[in-house]
Amino acid sequence: MNEKAAVGERAAEEYIKDGMVVGLGTGSTVYYTIVKIADMIKNGLTISGVATSVQTENLAKSLGIPLLDLNTVQKIDIAIDGADEIDPQFCAIKGGGGALLREKLIAKHAEKFIVVVDSHKIVQQLGGFPLPVEVVPFGAKLTEKAIQKFGCKTVFREKEGKAFVTDNGNYIIDCYFSRMEKPKELAMALNGIPGVVENGLFINMVHHVITVDKKDKVIVL
Ligand code: A5P
Repeated sequence: MNEKAAVGERAAEEYIKDGMVVGLGTGSTVYYTIVKIADMIKNGLTISGVATSVQTENLAKSLGIPLLDLNTVQKIDIAIDGADEIDPQFCAIKGGGGALLREKLIAKHAEKFIVVVDSHKIVQQLGGFPLPVEVVPFGAKLTEKAIQKFGCKTVFREKEGKAFVTDNGNYIIDCYFSRMEKPKELAMALNGIPGVVENGLFINMVHHVITVDKKDKVIVL
């Protein structure tokens, strides 16, 4: 079973209704949601999207999904996105693709935020996946030192041998924690460091999770 396709498509079928402004996430799972939405548009659905990354913007445009400038939007009815890990309290780590800032901004302002994940992303405790932290390039090595005080090993993300640069012109530091005991406190503390723009912890934001159970059935939690 292609779990990513199954959960991604289900999200579109279950939640997308005529007239909505939809936050379109980033990544290989929500890709299927976006393709499904494009199909639904071909069959008469009318929605507008707001994209969480340049990658998603390009995908949506190529599929004929109408997009809005975020600054012109009064309300985002729903946002749908993938995650790298999610725990039973619906706390998630996101940003594996580097789009965490725009993803969090759109999720925060959406009336509903739905996460689509294959079964491997469901974990009892967060931290197996390195936590992405977006930092401004100015003083980034000093920012890294301040982040390390939280007890993690850090690696500046690279792409093709060069520093990975986000859609916002920033760097990503991937933070390897052996255990992440208090994600909520950690998220707030990280954002208190000058130079940190945002971190990939999504706390108290997710309304529903769509995933696959042990019997290969798509479930909405
Ligand atoms: C993008 O920056 C990420 O937050 C993605 O939403 C997350 O990494 C999940 O992506 P996949 O669905 O490709 O695993």
